[in-house]
Amino acid sequence: MSIDVLYGTESGNAEMAAEEIVAALGDGRAVDLQDLDPDDLTSSAVYLVLCSTYGDGELPASAQPFVDALQAKRPDLTGVRYAIFGLGDSSYAESYSLGGNQLAECLDAQGAARFGDFGRHDASSSDDLVASAVAWAETALADVATAAA
Ligand SMILES: Cc1cc2nc3c(=O)[nH]c(=O)nc-3n(C[C@H](O)[C@H](O)[C@H](O)COP(=O)(O)O)c2cc1C
Repeated sequence: MSIDVLYGTESGNAEMAAEEIVAALGDGRAVDLQDLDPDDLTSSAVYLVLCSTYGDGELPASAQPFVDALQAKRPDLTGVRYAIFGLGDSSYAESYSLGGNQLAECLDAQGAARFGDFGRHDASSSDDLVASAVAWAETALADVATAAA
């Protein structure tokens, strides 16, 4: 089971967290969503997806081309498994973490299956981003391993 840690970022936090997850797992690779063709998503991998929010509840720049391609191509993602972690800031109130929500909705609409908890990091909290993201990834992967057993 290969692990791809996908990230959508604007100012680098999701990328840094994705790279730290790969380092902590000692497995997988970090991939910027802007470099991924939705047609290349496969049921033989598991995807850990990190996505921030920018503007006012919008996708970050590096996730937008992927979502545009997903909506244009509408690939059948049945059998594709992913877990999602949204980065945001609760001071944006109603727009909190909507980028991750939006990305998950687009993957679900194409038939992908979500596993694990919907992870979140709030930049207004004192939670450490890397510690939160690594703990989320490890729990999500344990869930998918249990489901596959
Ligand atoms: C200009 C700007 C707009 C933002 N808009 C939102 C927002 O609407 N909702 C939210 O939850 N967080 C928002 N954030 C917070 C970011 O999502 C948060 O800082 C995140 O850690 C950035 O991750 P990134 O560096 O991977 O893009 C915004 C941050 C900036 C600087």
